[in-house]
Amino acid sequence: MKKLIILAGATLSLLFAGCAKEEIRTLSVIPAPLNVELQQGVFLLKPGTGLYIDASDGDKTILEGCLAASSMRLKPVTTEEGHTIVLKQVEQLPEVNSSEGYVLTIDPDRVLIRATSGAGLFYGVQTMLQMADEKGLPVGTITDEPRFAYRGFMMDVSRHFFDKEFIKKQIDALAYYKLNRLHLHLTDAAGWRIEIKKYPRLAEFAAWREFSTWKEWWNNGRLYKEEGDKDAYGGYYTQEDIRELVAYAQERFITIIPEIEMPAHSEEVLTAYPEFSCTHEPYKQADFCVGNEKTFEFLENVLTEVMELFPSEYIHIGGDEAGKASWPACKLCQTRMKKENLKDVNELQSYLIHRIEVFLNAHGRKLLGWDEILEGGLAPNATVMSWRGTEGGLKAVDAGHKAIMTPGEFCYFDSYQDAPYSQPEAIGGYLPLAKVYSYNPVPDTLSADKVSLIYGVQANLFTEYIPTPEHAEMMIYPRILALSEVAWSAPVVKDYKDFYIRALKASDELKTKGYHPFDLKKEIGNRPGADQPISHLAVGKKVVYGLDAAYYPGYTAGGDTALVDGVVGGWTYGDHRWQGFIDKKGMDVTIDMEQETNIHSVGADFMQLCGPGVFMPAEVIISISNDGKEFTELKRIEHKVVKDEQLSFTHFGWEGETKARYVRYQAFSGEFGGFLFTDEIVVK
Ligand code: ACM
Repeated sequence: MKKLIILAGATLSLLFAGCAKEEIRTLSVIPAPLNVELQQGVFLLKPGTGLYIDASDGDKTILEGCLAASSMRLKPVTTEEGHTIVLKQVEQLPEVNSSEGYVLTIDPDRVLIRATSGAGLFYGVQTMLQMADEKGLPVGTITDEPRFAYRGFMMDVSRHFFDKEFIKKQIDALAYYKLNRLHLHLTDAAGWRIEIKKYPRLAEFAAWREFSTWKEWWNNGRLYKEEGDKDAYGGYYTQEDIRELVAYAQERFITIIPEIEMPAHSEEVLTAYPEFSCTHEPYKQADFCVGNEKTFEFLENVLTEVMELFPSEYIHIGGDEAGKASWPACKLCQTRMKKENLKDVNELQSYLIHRIEVFLNAHGRKLLGWDEILEGGLAPNATVMSWRGTEGGLKAVDAGHKAIMTPGEFCYFDSYQDAPYSQPEAIGGYLPLAKVYSYNPVPDTLSADKVSLIYGVQANLFTEYIPTPEHAEMMIYPRILALSEVAWSAPVVKDYKDFYIRALKASDELKTKGYHPFDLKKEIGNRPGADQPISHLAVGKKVVYGLDAAYYPGYTAGGDTALVDGVVGGWTYGDHRWQGFIDKKGMDVTIDMEQETNIHSVGADFMQLCGPGVFMPAEVIISISNDGKEFTELKRIEHKVVKDEQLSFTHFGWEGETKARYVRYQAFSGEFGGFLFTDEIVVK
């Protein structure tokens, strides 16, 4: 019998004996397994197909439950004999290195899944469930294990509250695609979401606010309300809810990691308990007072209850985006800094993180925090979650710490996943499925001894602009499928075209199960021109920037050649293709065409997105010269900049007939200042 060895998911051609015609079949498993060897034949489910499980009692119950909830109708049996699916926990499995790995062997009358752990068996079962269709299971062997031990998804339940049932539903899907961590962003200004017995005001007051949408609340005074008040929006998980969620997740081999924000993002706490802020005034501060011992008493008491509820090895303490504004004028903070010899507010934040780490470690837990915990000195045993790019994670790894990669550019699912004009309002950005899929959490430049410190990868769903469960699911699916493949599958088995076909099928399956995935079939894609270089007369020509009109270092788009490289920007200025100018002198670019050239048009596109301060120019001047010194104006465009809520693009250009060697393009901001962003000066 001919044995076909294929990459997972690749289209499989099976030549059946005695059958001249070729049957095409796709192995539709997400994430793509490491190694798939398929042969002729199938294992067909029959009414009496048995299920035999040889595993610990706990795992046996979980696996039985998992299969009972599936569409496979299996009969639990006490012997491996007969037409049976066998799940077997073994002492050793030399074919794989990870305890989460498995070997799935399918014969015409027996399916055998072997693994060294319950998790491994569970993942073998997920693969089998995804493979099974009306044609049965193809005969063969799948040997599989994850690339990363940490495969996470973060859900922000503060900005909008998502109930227990919604979380369970997502846990089901995460497990199906072999993710194993659910990070819950439980606290933030928009609402505290976990009952803490010692501090009842957190649930009675800090969990409730005016306005059901974050946006209305944010733009209208940001007030909190008492639980039960008419129009109070919010909610929280009771401790009983948390226990239920933790157990539900454990039964699907998912660890829930709680995040309790400190020292910042804590307006809701500091309004309910203003005594832990520097000035003791409600509604005034986002940061805890780090000089006050009572702050530590509060945080440790909260964390004690949190640790009782969540068995997770990691407790996430936030650590991101502290303004630190009240600390310089606070007597207690200043006294702390003097006493502890802390030279700045970064070190004061680091003092808090260090102290909290000691507390967590003393209770057998580990500290996890956003990459700002590097500032002022990283706590000795901390793990860094790298969100502001990958730099923080790589710094942590360099210092011998573990890192979880979750850079905004690839992992923030609050970004638009398709052309913004076709989508409900989002926070900005542009992160289509293909871009999530393209992410490699281990840079090629990382030395081999550091690779193992990249603990894994995580997608985050912050929910400022996501008020409903349906909307949240639309943002999660199918992008989480791409993340699951980034996290689990070896780079050699990844192939976007093949994945896309599987993602379409998986989206249909998700819909059938009651989820609300984004409709991939309707995907519009990137901004016209952004995926193919364009050609025009200035491509590759030398560019000189006017004195003091340099581009902003954070948005270079590749530097001096960016505006004549034929590369057009996409839907977001974060895609490294838009050049930013923030100096009052604006933008002043002269292109040397190398010789006198016939020119019919000169133009450039600009972007406006008022939220983050990106505006159209108020004035554009296009001029030409033959000596590069004396310029003749071709066109001066005055533009009234009007604030709006949408992302928009406008072309500012000249058209006509002229001849010149030098082309100069100047653009200036108007009354709102902010950034100018342009992607290409097109000369034709
Ligand atoms: C974050 O997005 N502030 C972690």
